[in-house]
Amino acid sequence: MSQESPTARRKVDHVRINLDEPVSSAISTGLERYRFIPRALPELDLDAVRTDGRVLGVAYRAPLLISSMTGGAGGVTAINRHLAEAAQEAGIAMGVGSQRAALEDGSLADSFRVRDLAPDIPLFANLGAVQLNYGYGLEHCRRAVDMIQADALILHINAVQEAVQPEGDTRWAGLLDQIERLAAELPCPIIAKEVGWGFAADDVHRLASAGVKAIDVAGAGGTSWSEVEKHRAATASERRVAAAFAGWGLPTAEALVLARAAAPQLEIIASGGLRDGVDMAKCLALGAVLAGMAGPFLRAATVSTEAVLEEIAVHLRTLRITMFAIGAADLAALRHTERLQPWTP
Ligand code: FNR
Repeated sequence: MSQESPTARRKVDHVRINLDEPVSSAISTGLERYRFIPRALPELDLDAVRTDGRVLGVAYRAPLLISSMTGGAGGVTAINRHLAEAAQEAGIAMGVGSQRAALEDGSLADSFRVRDLAPDIPLFANLGAVQLNYGYGLEHCRRAVDMIQADALILHINAVQEAVQPEGDTRWAGLLDQIERLAAELPCPIIAKEVGWGFAADDVHRLASAGVKAIDVAGAGGTSWSEVEKHRAATASERRVAAAFAGWGLPTAEALVLARAAAPQLEIIASGGLRDGVDMAKCLALGAVLAGMAGPFLRAATVSTEAVLEEIAVHLRTLRITMFAIGAADLAALRHTERLQPWTP
């Protein structure tokens, strides 16, 4: 298969559309409905604030995740390289984009192989869960994990995105059983991840019962995948169908609170529309172990490692100042703070 395969072509389209077109959800993250009560006297030195922690047993220096984006086409290799080098330098977690293209054509695997560049970070492999209904099984998932020496496998769950694509994979019946079978056999943990519409409490329950170890709520409020697909639509009818879902999904804050309550035993990653370190701090105070961002890193990743590092530095500095300004010296204190309160703007 050449790099002009439909899967590779779609990867390039997705990056281009995310860079050039408006693709935001029509609804907000809901994080604006919370605010921190400031502590004017933090009784703490800013330099003493610590942000190190662990996700699924793997250490990080700061609780930021560069969410799964890309790989699998010649034109996007530099993006993953820049992201990985910056993630290593900053000591933060990273996910690669769906590795399906590289499982179908081994010559594309190099665009995902970032472990050499990022030996010390939590690194997550990525496949679409629905592929388990299209012939993928334990061996494919193992290969995806081994390809990048990942610490965990993200299964992304994107029913609406597949359904609005004319060529989408829409056989979703019986998928939960397949996830359960895989979770019992795969040697590394599975993270179930939405792609921008969040999980409701009953879905979180089901996924926890199926044996996933973590949930990335990836709620609504940021990149909307129906809006992205709208820009790929070939006909006016396809476009209208995709457009109807611009306001679909559970806002990230709501999805996070629901997931925490539904499955306290799971590690929860918050993502979907997070745009600064204050958003990150709110999610960590609501119980997340990591705060993920995709869209905000994409443009910087097309430029250079330094540009990604600058983007990371802004978010981490903002997070540290937020922690300082509420008197939270470390992530445990942030998680247990009573200074985050519901608020009607
Ligand atoms: C994504 N996202 C994504 N997710 C996934 O699990 N596998 C993938 O292959 C991709 N591909 C991808 C490409 C690009 C260009 C973007 C911007 C995003 C979804 C991403 O990880 C995240 O869940 C959503 O984008 C919501 O987060 P933001 O963008 O609002 O921070």
